[in-house]
Amino acid sequence: MKTIKYTFIGPIRQAVTMANLPVKGALKDEQLHVIQEAGILIKDDEIYDIGPYWDLYPEAQSIGAEMVNLKGDFVALPGFIDCHTHICFEGSRAKDYAMRNAGISYLEIAKSGGGIWDTVTQTRKASLDKLAQLTVQRANRHLKDGITTIEVKSGYGLAIEEELKMLKAIKLANENTFADLIPTCLAAHIPPIDYQGTQKDYLNAISEELFPTLRSEGLANRIDAFIEETAFTAEDIQPYFQKAKEMGFDITVHADQFHASGSKVAVNFGAISADHLESSTDKEIELLAKSDTIAVALPGASMGLGVGYTPARKLLDAGASLAIASDWNPGSAPMGDLLMQAAALGTFEKLSNAEVLAGITFRAAAALNLADRGTMEIGKIADLIFFPTDDYREITYQQGRLKPSKIFKRGVEI
Ligand code: NIG
Ligand code: FE
Repeated sequence: MKTIKYTFIGPIRQAVTMANLPVKGALKDEQLHVIQEAGILIKDDEIYDIGPYWDLYPEAQSIGAEMVNLKGDFVALPGFIDCHTHICFEGSRAKDYAMRNAGISYLEIAKSGGGIWDTVTQTRKASLDKLAQLTVQRANRHLKDGITTIEVKSGYGLAIEEELKMLKAIKLANENTFADLIPTCLAAHIPPIDYQGTQKDYLNAISEELFPTLRSEGLANRIDAFIEETAFTAEDIQPYFQKAKEMGFDITVHADQFHASGSKVAVNFGAISADHLESSTDKEIELLAKSDTIAVALPGASMGLGVGYTPARKLLDAGASLAIASDWNPGSAPMGDLLMQAAALGTFEKLSNAEVLAGITFRAAAALNLADRGTMEIGKIADLIFFPTDDYREITYQQGRLKPSKIFKRGVEI
């Protein structure tokens, strides 16, 4: 018989549960549910109870919970979720930084055969094991920063076998890190330069030949596409998304990064998220606000390219749901510091602490269609992070410098 393990953590100066908040719309800090002098009781990998420490103490003792006595000040939050990354890649694009700052834009670099295609060339040369190893390294760095769930896209293979290699590497990486990696197929990142056929033929081949394997081998439930000048048009992507939808995949879109168009496609297809949105206008904001598609801001890409931020304030005020992700990739967003980026977006877009924290917890969980995490509530998985402070507002105020010093993944301290 399997024995049940209980763990009781506390006392915690503030437990910011992120519970009972709406998925859509603006949030005020006063709406946050903050338990002072809290205790969290874990049963195996789940939250069994959460409340005032001394209220839960007798129960914890009577069931023989292991007592994790916190000495000093701690603020607890649900583990952070990064709902958009490209951390499975080989090689650097350090030269792009200098080129862009010398006046050659990201799109111009792409048009001349560099940019994403450069990383495709480097990634294709790497073995599956090597890619898995690189992904684990990056995931573990994220985990140390308190990010316990990480979405990871393919999209640097751009041929059936190469995309499969990436997605298998992500699966292998998932088995070798405590973080949960959520795979997404981004075979429609850009049209592969070396493909013998039209863009339509390529998309057709991917949807006919790769999609069924993703299903049968459990390699991804999510399909992404980059809708942009140097990538795919809204028109080209229609049959691709249609097929993905018929096969039951969740759809997500790289939308409105440099030109507005992708978010309309996202909303029309009932995509789970539309990501980037740096170039969204009031029209797109309105569309997103009326939909259930989560808007995902990627401040790391704005910083990486030196372009304006996603209109996060306008999106929230219009009633949209806003998640915030790192977009960690070798091109537009090489930094990969989610908390720093989320805090900076908050500064520039005038977001409340509640909005910033929601963007990297339960709203990010919604962008990944994950109902089991993102808040600290009974029954949720026990992904918990503890910051060495007595005031949760320090976390955004210190703009990402303050990192969690204690991390629990599925009830286990790592
Ligand atoms: O989200 N915009 C498209 N894709 C990535 C960048 C990938 C790259 O430059 O390698 C993004 O910014
Ligand atoms: Fe991206």
